[in-house]
Amino acid sequence: MEHILEVQDLHTSFLTSSGEVKAVRGVSFTVEKGESIGIVGESGSGKSVTSLSVMQLLAGTGRIVGGSVKLNGRELVGLSAKEMRTIRGKEVAMIFQDPMTSLNPLIPVGEQVGEMLWSHDKALSKAEREARVVDLFQMVRIPEADKRLKSFPHEFSGGMRQRVMIAMALACKPDLLIADEPTTALDVSIQDQILKLMRSVQKEMGMSIMFITHDLGVVAELCSRVLVMYGGLIMEEANIFDIFEQPLHPYTMGLIASIPDLNQDKKKRLQPIIGSPPDMIHPPAGCPFAPRCPYACRICLEELPPVFRAGEGHSSRCWLLDEDAPSTGNPLKNRKEGQP
Ligand SMILES: Nc1ncnc2c1ncn2[C@@H]1O[C@H](COP(=O)(O)OP(=O)(O)O)[C@@H](O)[C@H]1O
Ligand SMILES: [Mg+2]
Repeated sequence: MEHILEVQDLHTSFLTSSGEVKAVRGVSFTVEKGESIGIVGESGSGKSVTSLSVMQLLAGTGRIVGGSVKLNGRELVGLSAKEMRTIRGKEVAMIFQDPMTSLNPLIPVGEQVGEMLWSHDKALSKAEREARVVDLFQMVRIPEADKRLKSFPHEFSGGMRQRVMIAMALACKPDLLIADEPTTALDVSIQDQILKLMRSVQKEMGMSIMFITHDLGVVAELCSRVLVMYGGLIMEEANIFDIFEQPLHPYTMGLIASIPDLNQDKKKRLQPIIGSPPDMIHPPAGCPFAPRCPYACRICLEELPPVFRAGEGHSSRCWLLDEDAPSTGNPLKNRKEGQP
């Protein structure tokens, strides 16, 4: 398999007045060519910091303090801002949650997308740029594309602005597209359209996608493989089928139980995971989920579980998978037939 992205033992921290926020604490994964991978987890689990680390776009005091990020075989950690500018847009591009913060309100949208094209190909004439932007707008299904070039961001709806952001991200045909909660700010029917759009452009262009969301249901629509993050760590990794059929980490089970099921009675109460995420300045010594985990044993509170391999491409950081542990009441073994 051809790795587009290879992240090895990534550690990213923020220095704040109250201490070092250890936002990402040793994350490893790969993204293959043409693959669509999902990263899910509750707010604060380290999803955005992971993707901003890949982009080398950490804000403020954010620093990669350990590990490696290889894109197309090349190490990005330690590259200069100038070198990163030639890579961003062309090899990797990112779509953010709120298009309003990433679009310039004072410049017509067509010009902003044109600028992205120009920054990677200075030989393009103005007419060529405009023609390319119209093509891109058509690709992301912006109606009357040729007429909308001169519109300003505020003249677009939220969904249309997100289409502009997707057009901008696709402008230079990146090998990897990172989408960080691109539909979270949109209402449900528009969310669905944007997901369909992303699926069809991925098919057309064959790029790899890293799709970040707090909603496992959304991942099921778009991704073939999933990383479940919590407390700055990957707690489980599996293909999309196994994650739903055989979740191994109690945190993953909790996320599944809290998916709003649109096909069922809307009044059916969801089961949120009780408790709150860990303090990332003083992360717990053991499993970060242990204080909220219904199955936690003493070792879970004391020692960080290693990554246990459970099958082809399936792994989980959970002491319940430790074959050497005493088998007393292992809930994963009793769970097979019944419910989580
Ligand atoms: N600029 C920052 N300064 C300090 N801490 C930050 C900053 N950005 C993120 N964090 C912290 O890093 C952790 C991970 O955040 P983030 O990756 O944004 O979570 P997610 O995207 O999964 O919701 C959180 O504890 C968050 O408070
Ligand atoms: Mg985020």
